[in-house]
Amino acid sequence: MTDTNRVKLKPGDTIGILGGGQLGRMLAMAAARLGLRCQVFSPDPDSPAFDVVLNATCAEYADVEALELFANDVDVITYEFENVPAAAAMVLDARRPVLPNRKILETTQDRLAEKDFVARLGIGTAVYADVTSVTSLREAIFRIGLPAVLKTRRFGYDGKGQAIIREGDDIAKVWTSLGTKQAILEAFVPFEREISVIAARSAAGQVECFDVTENEHRDHILKLSRAPAPIPDSLADEARSVASRIASALDYVGVLAVEMFVLANGTGPKVLVNEIAPRVHNSGHWTLDGASVSQFEQHIRAIAGWPLGKPVRHGEVVTMTNLIGDEINSYEEWLTVQGATIHIYGKGAPRPGRKMGHVTEVRPPKGK
Ligand SMILES: Nc1ncnc2c1ncn2[C@@H]1O[C@H](COP(=O)(O)OP(=O)(O)O)[C@@H](O)[C@H]1O
Ligand SMILES: [Mg+2]
Repeated sequence: MTDTNRVKLKPGDTIGILGGGQLGRMLAMAAARLGLRCQVFSPDPDSPAFDVVLNATCAEYADVEALELFANDVDVITYEFENVPAAAAMVLDARRPVLPNRKILETTQDRLAEKDFVARLGIGTAVYADVTSVTSLREAIFRIGLPAVLKTRRFGYDGKGQAIIREGDDIAKVWTSLGTKQAILEAFVPFEREISVIAARSAAGQVECFDVTENEHRDHILKLSRAPAPIPDSLADEARSVASRIASALDYVGVLAVEMFVLANGTGPKVLVNEIAPRVHNSGHWTLDGASVSQFEQHIRAIAGWPLGKPVRHGEVVTMTNLIGDEINSYEEWLTVQGATIHIYGKGAPRPGRKMGHVTEVRPPKGK
């Protein structure tokens, strides 16, 4: 493995980004403002990130020759999605530092490995069980109870690859329709709200967390984020401390997001970790216009070997609204809303459920 502690980029150096979606695009834009170049690798010729970089590699992640040429062209490599194939990460890692390091992908690509890792740190999660057959699903339900959430261990996103099981459901049918033998059953968490913490960690071990964000989903897709989350300071401190411990335990370099549930229980509210995203995250988009340093800039600084920013939030409350599917067609209306900043990802067709853009709104402190 290449030595990641020695990465120290200078303006003019080049970052390789795996993945060409909106996250890659916004990473490249943040890098550009710091005088760094990016080269994007994506199999999709219509990648929105291609539009903002000079050099792009359009090839499959299994194309070893393309990966090698890409690695030769860049100084450090990062990614905008967690499902980078292990073989591709290994090819790249032999040539250039890959940050965050590829062992982190192994943990975060698999919901079971991820939950085991969090539990080993003594951090709370929903009660869960490994499920590999309809028999083990029945056993897990007996132990955990219903309602419960059955999830594929790999490749789930935006609620895909999961099903809620309720009393009276046909268990065999739910199992078959999941279409995999690698799954996890989680107790259904009657959460009061969902929050996330976006944390950045440098190779030197400095950790900076943004304000805790509250997230509202619609049809399993993030619709609205609000920072800071309206929770007691002590709970916000706990959430940030959980994210910092996870980042440090992973020896993480870059930005990561930790999604959590806030549980209102008798002894006072507490947080349970839902999942870890080893990358910049939709719930951190508010930082683009709502903080002195964005999550994208923090990630670039971290992987460049630069000091992290100490972000200060602009305004009292910042909200981020996703423009999903046809909602992007209202962009002209958003252009006229006072205080709104619109981001359009430059994607093609606005298919249902597709994230097409977002709007941030900063509410100034009272009296301003
Ligand atoms: N154990 C659970 N209890 C209650 N709600 C859950 C549970 N797991 C997931 N959810 C709901 O489903 C959403 C998506 O699940 P998540 O595990 O984050 O998968 P992904 O974001 O990868 O689709 C969560 O944000 C939450 O609203
Ligand atoms: Mg999630």
